[in-house]
Amino acid sequence: MNTMLPVTLHSDATKLLLLDQTELPTIEKFLEIDTREDLYEAIKKLRVRGAPAIGVAAAYGVYVCMRKETYASLDEMQKDFSSLKSYLASSRPTAVNLFWALNRMEVRFITECTLKTSTQDSVLTGLLAESKAIFDEDQKMSIAIGKHGLTLFSKHMGIMTHCNAGGLATTGYGTALAPIYLGFEQGYDFKVYANETRPLLQGSRLTAYELNKVGIDVTVLCDNMASLVMKQGKIDAIIVGADRIAANGDTANKIGTSGVAILAKEYGIPFYVAAPTSTFDLETAIGDDIEIEIRDGEEVINGFGKRTGPEGVKVYNPAFDVTASKYITAIITERGIITHPDRESVTSHLKNK
Ligand code: MRU
Repeated sequence: MNTMLPVTLHSDATKLLLLDQTELPTIEKFLEIDTREDLYEAIKKLRVRGAPAIGVAAAYGVYVCMRKETYASLDEMQKDFSSLKSYLASSRPTAVNLFWALNRMEVRFITECTLKTSTQDSVLTGLLAESKAIFDEDQKMSIAIGKHGLTLFSKHMGIMTHCNAGGLATTGYGTALAPIYLGFEQGYDFKVYANETRPLLQGSRLTAYELNKVGIDVTVLCDNMASLVMKQGKIDAIIVGADRIAANGDTANKIGTSGVAILAKEYGIPFYVAAPTSTFDLETAIGDDIEIEIRDGEEVINGFGKRTGPEGVKVYNPAFDVTASKYITAIITERGIITHPDRESVTSHLKNK
């Protein structure tokens, strides 16, 4: 791991430690989480955010919250597991990794409970082991995505990205930024253009922060500059992350992503999505079926301590949009590359998932 990359989260097996991303880029402060309410709040308020990181945080969160309780029986423990799972699952609706991680914890929980020798301690040991496995796999997946993604890039490219799908959105090198970090380590001199990503500015606050920290050439753009910069020939490729990918390859990602993809098609620029296989949701047939999180309008007109719209005005604040698969040149996963994603290529890539 590049030691200059920020640490998104870790656990000392009693608490979950989360870098509070709402304070970046100015303050690097870790929150100590060991209650379900604090974890729910941290996910809801985007203190931890980015699909893979939310999943890892929820997995560790289940363990650290449950280890504090004393249960009268395994049955009571099971009831609490179910209510904790539903509570955390209601924090944010779009990123499927949250549900994927909670389901994995549930499978492990049930397996541990059904062993003849089960005790509360043995079940907790199993939950800790599962969260560590999810954490380790997350780090490995980002390196694998980086290696596959780098085969699509050449040395002196201008690369645009939207939102933050970097180290801060995972526990490793990120997804969309992973090929950029690996390329940088091998001497590539990319010029990265980070769309600032209204309204919560994940592009300028987080992507620019982490690339800058490592020493990668990064330029922040307001979202509405993307077309001009593409037209000027500064962008050779675009790469973004994903919150949920439907069975036909339609991809939900941060609001504004679909506009960038449509522009890319117009200008003939390849548009790549980088995401682990845990971000695919084969039960969702098409992108229109993905639930889009609607957030508080105050984020748009009263963000970062400055009122920029009249009090009481109507605001629409969807946090994500869906890019139709026809605009996606390829999806990069830890398993390889799906070119021209559609139902057939996605299904074949994911078989045995
Ligand atoms: O609302 P956020 O900041 O959680 O949205 C994050 C994104 O849209 C990311 O691009 C996505 O989760 C992929 S992170 C590897």
